[in-house]
Amino acid sequence: MSDIKYKYLKYNIEKSICTLFINREEYLNALSIKVIKELIDFYNWANQNQNIKVVIMTGSGDKAFVAGADIKEMSNLDASDSKSYALLGQQLTITIENLSKPVIAAINGYALGGGCEIAMACHIRYASKNSKFGQPEVGLGLIAGFGGTQRLPRLVGKGIALELLLSGKIIDAEEALRIKLINKITDNDKLLDECYKLADQINNNSPVAIRYTITAINKGESAQIEKALNIESKLFAKTFSTSDCKEGLASFLNKNKPKFSGH
Ligand code: CAA
Repeated sequence: MSDIKYKYLKYNIEKSICTLFINREEYLNALSIKVIKELIDFYNWANQNQNIKVVIMTGSGDKAFVAGADIKEMSNLDASDSKSYALLGQQLTITIENLSKPVIAAINGYALGGGCEIAMACHIRYASKNSKFGQPEVGLGLIAGFGGTQRLPRLVGKGIALELLLSGKIIDAEEALRIKLINKITDNDKLLDECYKLADQINNNSPVAIRYTITAINKGESAQIEKALNIESKLFAKTFSTSDCKEGLASFLNKNKPKFSGH
Protein backbone atom coordinates (compact mmCIF):
# COMPACT_ATOMS: atom_id res chain seq x y z
CA MET A 1 0.00 0.00 0.00
CA SER A 2 2.69 2.52 -0.79
CA ASP A 3 3.90 4.43 -3.76
CA ILE A 4 7.57 5.09 -4.36
CA LYS A 5 6.64 8.47 -5.84
CA TYR A 6 5.69 9.85 -2.47
CA LYS A 7 7.58 10.16 0.78
CA TYR A 8 4.68 11.52 2.85
CA LEU A 9 1.65 9.90 1.25
CA LYS A 10 0.32 6.37 0.99
CA TYR A 11 -2.68 5.23 -0.94
CA ASN A 12 -4.57 2.21 -2.12
CA ILE A 13 -7.29 1.77 -4.72
CA GLU A 14 -10.10 -0.73 -4.28
CA LYS A 15 -13.47 -0.83 -6.08
CA SER A 16 -12.66 2.57 -7.68
CA ILE A 17 -12.20 4.13 -4.23
CA CYS A 18 -8.78 5.59 -3.51
CA THR A 19 -7.90 5.86 0.18
CA LEU A 20 -5.17 8.42 0.71
CA PHE A 21 -3.20 8.62 3.95
CA ILE A 22 -1.18 11.72 4.82
CA ASN A 23 1.74 9.89 6.30
CA ARG A 24 3.74 12.04 8.69
CA GLU A 25 2.47 10.61 11.93
CA GLU A 26 5.39 11.72 14.15
CA TYR A 27 4.45 15.37 13.44
CA LEU A 28 0.71 14.72 13.59
CA ASN A 29 0.65 14.84 9.77
CA ALA A 30 1.57 18.55 9.75
CA LEU A 31 1.69 20.07 6.27
CA SER A 32 5.28 20.80 5.34
CA ILE A 33 5.96 22.27 1.89
CA LYS A 34 6.98 18.80 0.68
CA VAL A 35 3.70 17.30 1.94
CA ILE A 36 1.69 20.04 0.25
CA LYS A 37 3.56 19.56 -3.06
CA GLU A 38 3.04 15.79 -2.91
CA LEU A 39 -0.68 16.31 -2.24
CA ILE A 40 -1.04 18.64 -5.24
CA ASP A 41 0.76 16.12 -7.43
CA PHE A 42 -1.39 13.28 -6.09
CA TYR A 43 -4.70 15.09 -6.72
CA ASN A 44 -3.72 16.09 -10.26
CA TRP A 45 -2.83 12.47 -10.95
CA ALA A 46 -6.00 11.11 -9.28
CA ASN A 47 -8.13 13.51 -11.32
CA GLN A 48 -6.90 11.89 -14.55
CA ASN A 49 -6.88 8.31 -13.28
CA GLN A 50 -9.80 6.35 -14.76
CA ASN A 51 -9.54 3.73 -12.00
CA ILE A 52 -10.45 6.27 -9.32
CA LYS A 53 -14.01 7.52 -8.84
CA VAL A 54 -13.87 8.74 -5.24
CA VAL A 55 -10.96 9.79 -3.00
CA ILE A 56 -11.08 9.36 0.77
CA MET A 57 -8.38 11.41 2.51
CA THR A 58 -7.33 10.66 6.08
CA GLY A 59 -4.38 11.01 8.44
CA SER A 60 -1.97 8.25 9.43
CA GLY A 61 -2.18 7.08 13.03
CA ASP A 62 -5.06 7.52 15.44
CA LYS A 63 -4.34 11.00 16.77
CA ALA A 64 -4.52 13.46 13.92
CA PHE A 65 -6.02 14.10 10.52
CA VAL A 66 -3.64 17.07 10.10
CA ALA A 67 -2.45 19.27 13.01
CA GLY A 68 -1.90 22.26 10.73
CA ALA A 69 0.74 23.83 8.59
CA ASP A 70 4.26 22.96 9.73
CA ILE A 71 5.02 25.53 12.44
CA LYS A 72 8.76 24.85 12.48
CA GLU A 73 8.97 25.43 8.74
CA MET A 74 6.84 28.57 8.98
CA SER A 75 9.16 30.03 11.61
CA ASN A 76 11.83 30.38 8.89
CA LEU A 77 9.66 32.23 6.38
CA ASP A 78 9.85 35.94 5.64
CA ALA A 79 6.96 38.01 4.26
CA SER A 80 7.74 37.17 0.64
CA ASP A 81 8.23 33.41 1.26
CA SER A 82 5.06 33.33 3.31
CA LYS A 83 2.97 34.76 0.46
CA SER A 84 4.21 31.95 -1.83
CA TYR A 85 3.58 29.50 1.00
CA ALA A 86 -0.05 30.64 1.40
CA LEU A 87 -0.53 30.48 -2.38
CA LEU A 88 0.82 26.93 -2.43
CA GLY A 89 -1.56 25.87 0.35
CA GLN A 90 -4.41 27.62 -1.44
CA GLN A 91 -3.47 25.87 -4.68
CA LEU A 92 -3.90 22.57 -2.85
CA THR A 93 -7.32 23.52 -1.49
CA ILE A 94 -8.49 24.79 -4.89
CA THR A 95 -7.27 21.58 -6.54
CA ILE A 96 -9.20 19.44 -4.05
CA GLU A 97 -12.35 21.57 -4.22
CA ASN A 98 -12.44 21.49 -8.02
CA LEU A 99 -11.55 17.85 -8.48
CA SER A 100 -13.91 16.24 -10.99
CA LYS A 101 -14.56 13.40 -8.53
CA PRO A 102 -15.74 13.57 -4.93
CA VAL A 103 -13.20 13.87 -2.13
CA ILE A 104 -14.35 12.72 1.31
CA ALA A 105 -12.34 13.89 4.32
CA ALA A 106 -12.17 11.09 6.90
CA ILE A 107 -11.17 13.20 9.89
CA ASN A 108 -9.58 10.95 12.47
CA GLY A 109 -8.34 13.31 15.19
CA TYR A 110 -6.92 16.85 15.20
CA ALA A 111 -7.93 18.97 12.19
CA LEU A 112 -6.33 22.27 13.14
CA GLY A 113 -5.29 25.30 11.10
CA GLY A 114 -4.23 24.08 7.66
CA GLY A 115 -5.73 20.67 8.57
CA CYS A 116 -9.18 22.14 9.08
CA GLU A 117 -8.65 24.17 5.90
CA ILE A 118 -7.91 21.16 3.70
CA ALA A 119 -10.86 19.32 5.27
CA MET A 120 -13.09 22.28 4.36
CA ALA A 121 -11.92 22.06 0.74
CA CYS A 122 -13.12 18.43 0.57
CA HIS A 123 -16.63 17.85 -0.77
CA ILE A 124 -17.84 15.87 2.26
CA ARG A 125 -16.52 15.58 5.84
CA TYR A 126 -17.03 12.55 8.08
CA ALA A 127 -15.29 12.65 11.46
CA SER A 128 -14.57 10.20 14.25
CA LYS A 129 -15.85 10.93 17.78
CA ASN A 130 -12.33 11.83 18.96
CA SER A 131 -11.85 14.57 16.33
CA LYS A 132 -11.00 18.13 17.26
CA PHE A 133 -11.31 21.20 15.07
CA GLY A 134 -10.05 24.75 15.18
CA GLN A 135 -8.21 27.62 13.55
CA PRO A 136 -5.63 28.47 16.23
CA GLU A 137 -3.50 30.69 13.95
CA VAL A 138 -4.25 33.93 15.85
CA GLY A 139 -2.48 32.49 18.89
CA LEU A 140 0.64 32.13 16.74
CA GLY A 141 0.37 35.73 15.55
CA LEU A 142 -0.90 34.58 12.13
CA ILE A 143 -4.13 34.39 10.27
CA ALA A 144 -5.49 31.31 8.52
CA GLY A 145 -3.72 31.20 5.17
CA PHE A 146 -4.99 28.15 3.25
CA GLY A 147 -8.53 29.45 2.72
CA GLY A 148 -9.83 29.41 6.31
CA THR A 149 -11.02 33.03 6.40
CA GLN A 150 -13.03 32.39 3.23
CA ARG A 151 -14.32 28.81 3.38
CA LEU A 152 -15.22 28.75 7.10
CA PRO A 153 -17.78 31.60 6.84
CA ARG A 154 -19.20 30.03 3.69
CA LEU A 155 -19.68 26.73 5.54
CA VAL A 156 -20.81 27.79 9.00
CA GLY A 157 -21.84 31.45 8.58
CA LYS A 158 -19.94 34.64 9.33
CA GLY A 159 -20.71 34.91 13.05
CA ILE A 160 -19.58 31.43 14.03
CA ALA A 161 -16.59 31.63 11.67
CA LEU A 162 -15.49 34.85 13.34
CA GLU A 163 -15.92 33.28 16.78
CA LEU A 164 -13.65 30.37 15.81
CA LEU A 165 -11.10 32.42 13.87
CA LEU A 166 -10.80 35.15 16.52
CA SER A 167 -10.76 32.92 19.62
CA GLY A 168 -8.64 30.14 18.11
CA LYS A 169 -10.65 27.77 20.30
CA ILE A 170 -10.68 24.04 19.67
CA ILE A 171 -14.08 22.37 19.34
CA ASP A 172 -15.05 18.70 19.52
CA ALA A 173 -16.86 16.64 16.89
CA GLU A 174 -20.33 17.20 18.45
CA GLU A 175 -19.90 20.96 18.22
CA ALA A 176 -18.46 20.69 14.69
CA LEU A 177 -21.55 18.72 13.64
CA ARG A 178 -23.89 21.21 15.35
CA ILE A 179 -22.40 24.14 13.39
CA LYS A 180 -22.40 22.05 10.17
CA LEU A 181 -18.63 22.07 9.80
CA ILE A 182 -18.86 18.29 9.36
CA ASN A 183 -21.51 16.03 7.85
CA LYS A 184 -21.39 13.09 10.24
CA ILE A 185 -19.76 11.68 13.39
CA THR A 186 -18.77 8.01 13.52
CA ASP A 187 -17.30 5.69 16.14
CA ASN A 188 -13.51 5.98 16.02
CA ASP A 189 -13.05 2.49 14.55
CA LYS A 190 -15.92 2.83 12.04
CA LEU A 191 -14.78 6.03 10.29
CA LEU A 192 -13.33 4.49 7.14
CA ASP A 193 -16.15 1.91 6.88
CA GLU A 194 -18.73 4.71 6.97
CA CYS A 195 -16.77 6.60 4.30
CA TYR A 196 -16.62 3.46 2.13
CA LYS A 197 -20.41 3.03 2.48
CA LEU A 198 -20.93 6.58 1.25
CA ALA A 199 -18.37 6.16 -1.54
CA ASP A 200 -20.19 2.99 -2.71
CA GLN A 201 -23.48 4.89 -2.85
CA ILE A 202 -21.81 7.67 -4.85
CA ASN A 203 -20.28 5.11 -7.20
CA ASN A 204 -23.73 3.71 -8.11
CA ASN A 205 -24.41 7.02 -9.83
CA SER A 206 -23.30 8.57 -13.10
CA PRO A 207 -19.71 9.92 -12.90
CA VAL A 208 -20.64 12.62 -15.44
CA ALA A 209 -23.61 13.76 -13.35
CA ILE A 210 -21.39 13.78 -10.27
CA ARG A 211 -18.78 15.87 -12.07
CA TYR A 212 -21.37 18.39 -13.28
CA THR A 213 -22.95 18.59 -9.82
CA ILE A 214 -19.59 19.53 -8.28
CA THR A 215 -19.05 22.11 -11.03
CA ALA A 216 -22.55 23.59 -10.63
CA ILE A 217 -22.15 23.98 -6.86
CA ASN A 218 -18.61 25.39 -7.02
CA LYS A 219 -19.29 27.81 -9.87
CA GLY A 220 -22.69 28.85 -8.56
CA GLU A 221 -21.65 29.33 -4.93
CA SER A 222 -20.31 32.83 -5.30
CA ALA A 223 -22.49 33.90 -8.23
CA GLN A 224 -25.64 35.93 -8.08
CA ILE A 225 -28.75 33.64 -8.17
CA GLU A 226 -29.79 34.23 -11.82
CA LYS A 227 -26.22 33.55 -13.00
CA ALA A 228 -25.98 30.52 -10.74
CA LEU A 229 -29.25 29.08 -12.09
CA ASN A 230 -27.96 29.70 -15.60
CA ILE A 231 -24.86 27.63 -14.80
CA GLU A 232 -27.16 24.85 -13.55
CA SER A 233 -29.45 24.83 -16.58
CA LYS A 234 -26.49 24.75 -18.99
CA LEU A 235 -24.99 21.77 -17.19
CA PHE A 236 -28.42 20.09 -16.96
CA ALA A 237 -28.75 20.42 -20.74
CA LYS A 238 -25.22 19.08 -21.23
CA THR A 239 -26.08 15.87 -19.40
CA PHE A 240 -28.70 15.10 -22.07
CA SER A 241 -26.02 14.53 -24.69
CA THR A 242 -24.19 11.98 -22.53
CA SER A 243 -24.42 8.18 -22.68
CA ASP A 244 -24.83 8.16 -18.91
CA CYS A 245 -28.07 10.12 -19.16
CA LYS A 246 -29.47 7.82 -21.86
CA GLU A 247 -28.45 4.81 -19.78
CA GLY A 248 -29.95 6.22 -16.56
CA LEU A 249 -33.31 7.15 -18.06
CA ALA A 250 -33.64 3.94 -20.11
CA SER A 251 -32.66 1.75 -17.17
CA PHE A 252 -35.37 3.31 -15.02
CA LEU A 253 -38.01 2.71 -17.69
CA ASN A 254 -36.78 -0.85 -18.31
CA LYS A 255 -36.52 -1.49 -14.56
CA ASN A 256 -32.78 -2.33 -14.87
CA LYS A 257 -29.86 -1.24 -12.76
CA PRO A 258 -27.95 1.36 -14.85
CA LYS A 259 -24.42 0.63 -16.00
CA PHE A 260 -22.78 4.03 -16.28
CA SER A 261 -19.74 4.43 -18.54
CA GLY A 262 -18.86 7.90 -17.30
CA HIS A 263 -19.34 9.44 -20.76
N1 CAA B 1 3.66 21.81 12.86
C1 CAA B 1 4.82 21.17 13.15
N2 CAA B 1 4.92 20.20 14.06
C2 CAA B 1 3.79 19.88 14.74
C3 CAA B 1 2.55 20.50 14.49
C4 CAA B 1 2.51 21.51 13.51
N3 CAA B 1 1.38 22.15 13.17
N4 CAA B 1 1.63 19.97 15.33
C5 CAA B 1 2.26 19.05 16.05
N5 CAA B 1 3.56 18.99 15.71
C6 CAA B 1 4.62 18.12 16.25
C7 CAA B 1 5.02 18.56 17.65
O1 CAA B 1 5.94 19.62 17.60
C8 CAA B 1 5.62 17.27 18.19
O2 CAA B 1 6.91 17.11 17.65
P1 CAA B 1 8.17 16.79 18.65
O3 CAA B 1 7.85 15.42 19.19
O4 CAA B 1 9.37 16.83 17.76
O5 CAA B 1 8.13 17.84 19.72
C9 CAA B 1 4.75 16.20 17.55
O6 CAA B 1 4.12 16.81 16.43
C10 CAA B 1 3.65 15.70 18.47
O7 CAA B 1 2.90 16.81 18.92
P2 CAA B 1 2.67 17.17 20.49
O8 CAA B 1 3.74 16.56 21.31
O9 CAA B 1 2.46 18.65 20.58
O10 CAA B 1 1.29 16.38 20.73
P3 CAA B 1 0.18 16.74 21.84
O11 CAA B 1 -0.75 15.59 21.84
O12 CAA B 1 0.83 17.14 23.11
O13 CAA B 1 -0.59 18.03 21.26
C11 CAA B 1 -1.66 19.33 19.56
C12 CAA B 1 -1.33 17.92 20.09
C13 CAA B 1 -2.65 20.03 20.52
C14 CAA B 1 -2.32 19.17 18.19
C15 CAA B 1 -0.36 20.19 19.47
O14 CAA B 1 0.60 19.42 18.76
C16 CAA B 1 -0.53 21.48 18.75
O15 CAA B 1 -1.05 22.44 19.32
N6 CAA B 1 -0.09 21.55 17.47
C17 CAA B 1 -0.16 22.78 16.70
C18 CAA B 1 -1.58 23.07 16.22
C19 CAA B 1 -1.63 24.38 15.46
O16 CAA B 1 -1.43 25.45 16.02
N7 CAA B 1 -1.95 24.29 14.15
C20 CAA B 1 -2.07 25.46 13.30
C21 CAA B 1 -0.79 25.70 12.60
S1 CAA B 1 -0.78 27.25 11.78
C22 CAA B 1 -1.51 26.98 10.29
O17 CAA B 1 -2.00 25.91 9.99
C23 CAA B 1 -1.49 28.17 9.37
C24 CAA B 1 -2.33 28.09 8.15
O18 CAA B 1 -3.52 28.36 8.13
C25 CAA B 1 -1.71 27.76 6.90
